Amino acid sequence: MSRTKSVRDYIRTIVDFPHEGIMFRDVTTLFADPRGFRIAIDQMLHPYAGERIDKVVGLEARGFILGGAIAHQLSVGFVPIRKKGKLPGTTISQDYKLEYGEAIVEIHDDAIQPGEKVLLVDDLLATGGTAAAGIKLIERLGGEIVSCAFIIDLPELGGRNVLENMGMDVHALCE
Ligand code: PRP
Ligand code: HPA
Repeated sequence: MSRTKSVRDYIRTIVDFPHEGIMFRDVTTLFADPRGFRIAIDQMLHPYAGERIDKVVGLEARGFILGGAIAHQLSVGFVPIRKKGKLPGTTISQDYKLEYGEAIVEIHDDAIQPGEKVLLVDDLLATGGTAAAGIKLIERLGGEIVSCAFIIDLPELGGRNVLENMGMDVHALCE
C-alpha cells in the first residue's frame, strides 16, 4: 500500500549545484505540485492558528512565493526583503555574511509600522545569515517577530541556533 506523500517527498535534490559538492534542495518541484504547494502552506501556518499576525515578510526569492500565499491565506499584507538595489522606494539596509564574502538585503523603510506582529518566511534555513539580517531589518522598523517559518532546516549549518539565540521562535517542516 502506498503512503500519502509528505512535503519532503515533493522536494528534489540537485547534486553539485551551484558548486561541486553541494546537494541543492530544490523546492520548485514542491511549488509546482498543486497538492504539495497547498499542504506546505497549510503546514507552515498550522503553528500560528489563533495568533495575531499583521504582516508576512518574505526573503528573496523563494520566500516571496511562500510569503505571498501565506499572506493571502491570512488576509494580511506581504512585504518583500530584497537584495540590494532592487527596491524602488527609500530603504534601510543590512549586511550579512555569505560562504564567500558579504551581501546586503533591504526593506522599504515604511513597510512595517512599530508594534506590528510579523511572520518571517523563507524556503530554507542554512547558516541563518539571511534570516538574521531580515530579523534585524524588521526590528529596526519596530516590528515584533512572532516567528520565523521555513520549509527546510539544514541542521548541520546551525541556523536554528543563530535565530534562537536572537530570541526567535523557529519552525521548519523538515530537515
Ligand atoms: C537561499 C535560501 C535562503 C538562504 C539560506 O537563498 O533561499 O534565503 O539561501 O541561507 P543562509 O541561512 O545560509 O543565509 P539564496 O541566498 O541562494 O538566494 P536566492 O533565493 O535569491 O536564490
Ligand atoms: N537550497 C536552497 N537554498 C540553499 C540551499 C539549498 O540546498 N543551501 C543553501 N541555500
